[in-house]
Amino acid sequence: MRLLPGLKYLCRGISSDISGKASPVCTRLCAAQWTRACSRTSESTKESTQDSMMLKHLISKIKSTGPISVAEYMREVLTNPVTGYYQHRDILGSEGDFITSPEISQIFGELLGVWCVSEWMAAGKPRTFQLVELGPGRGTLVSDALRVFSQLRSVLKGSKISVHLIEVSPKFGDIQAQLLTEGQHLLHDPRSAIYKTGVTKTGLPISWYRDLQDVPKGFSFYLAHEFFDVLPIHRFQKTKQGWREILIDIEPKSPEKLRFVLAPHATLASKVLIQQRNDERDQIEICPEAGVIIQNIASRITEDGGAALIADYGHNGTKTDTFRGFRGHQLHDVLTAPGTADLTADVDFSYLRQMTEGKVTSLGPIPQHQFLKNMGIDVRLQVLLRNAADPNTGKGLIDAYDMIMNPEKMGKRFKFFALLPYNRVLSRQDTKSMKSGPTAPPVAGFSELQL
Ligand SMILES: C[S@@+](CC[C@H](N)C(=O)[O-])C[C@H]1O[C@@H](n2cnc3c(N)ncnc32)[C@H](O)[C@@H]1O
Repeated sequence: MRLLPGLKYLCRGISSDISGKASPVCTRLCAAQWTRACSRTSESTKESTQDSMMLKHLISKIKSTGPISVAEYMREVLTNPVTGYYQHRDILGSEGDFITSPEISQIFGELLGVWCVSEWMAAGKPRTFQLVELGPGRGTLVSDALRVFSQLRSVLKGSKISVHLIEVSPKFGDIQAQLLTEGQHLLHDPRSAIYKTGVTKTGLPISWYRDLQDVPKGFSFYLAHEFFDVLPIHRFQKTKQGWREILIDIEPKSPEKLRFVLAPHATLASKVLIQQRNDERDQIEICPEAGVIIQNIASRITEDGGAALIADYGHNGTKTDTFRGFRGHQLHDVLTAPGTADLTADVDFSYLRQMTEGKVTSLGPIPQHQFLKNMGIDVRLQVLLRNAADPNTGKGLIDAYDMIMNPEKMGKRFKFFALLPYNRVLSRQDTKSMKSGPTAPPVAGFSELQL
């Protein structure tokens, strides 16, 4: 077992504060709450009108242009500026459609903050760095990570840190700004590249964007938790004539319903994305948007330094049909009542790796329970338990730990994957004498650790 003395030091440097309001049980949900089916009775009539508007919009689109790709369907349903699922509602938490690890346990975001500091140290402590999060939801992860930065200010002293959030949902943008800046933010033209700026509670400049391309260049840590799984996928089926794209059409017998159909000929997507493909699977999903974003991140890391940490459910190029919907914490048919449920597909980590090959090195995917264990979650839990004011708080912390760590719950299904500059993991070699220099320190989370 290798030692990571730096990580040990960082974990000890975090305070024993239990985040949240009066009781963390209220802000971080326990296992029982997670599985509770939610009723959407609190949703306004305006939303149900928007939901049926989405179906009408899709039907008229298909009538005018013909069957649409699954990617186009996902894009419209999730991020259409007027009626998209993510645009106007807070769908996270017990009253929403699903709950995510940072919302369950404060330790999750804290350990990701520790990971960034650990990698910042391994990179030689550059004076300036950016924390960039893609799809921050309620902003809870970044809030927990920033609290760690603030607690480790003696380690980070003198460094100039800025925060950059990539978010398409105005609703989530508002929630993030409220949590992170406590109202200390300015709204800009909603159409401009930077649509909001402010100062975080911990005194750091923060900006909001819709697109990674608009984030300034510079040494950065990129975090993406449950972001890649919402990006639009194309689905393909192997046939005797070759790969054919699965499209979405109107059900002929009930014109208010949608159905999957197979494109009779090759589509642009099947020509461009599949090419010569020897795949044992007879159905595959490809997410070109994920490919573009991950290539952009890899180029930035190559040019300016930094690292990316991606956590999501996914596979290594082995699964077939993973496209599904979630509504009220239950599985929901993807073609029924579009706009009322989240749509998601497992992330293909092998595709992300392939898209970044030659630019950066990748680690993982490894299961969430392994990553968090290596990051010292057990020690952190013990510290918080010692500080718990009452048995209820302690129980909440343990339930939350169980939910994110238990392999039967979120521990195994969710995976961690990192992108790093090549020189981060190679031993520094003297190229003239071919003698190996000091080995690079292990990357936290991806190596076993003894605290
Ligand atoms: C499943 S939620 C995850 C939220 C958060 N990361 C968490 O773990 O709690 C997906 C997030 O990505 C945002 N999002 C969806 N599509 C996006 C896109 N194309 N560009 C940027 N953000 C997007 C959503 O608004 C939301 O904040």
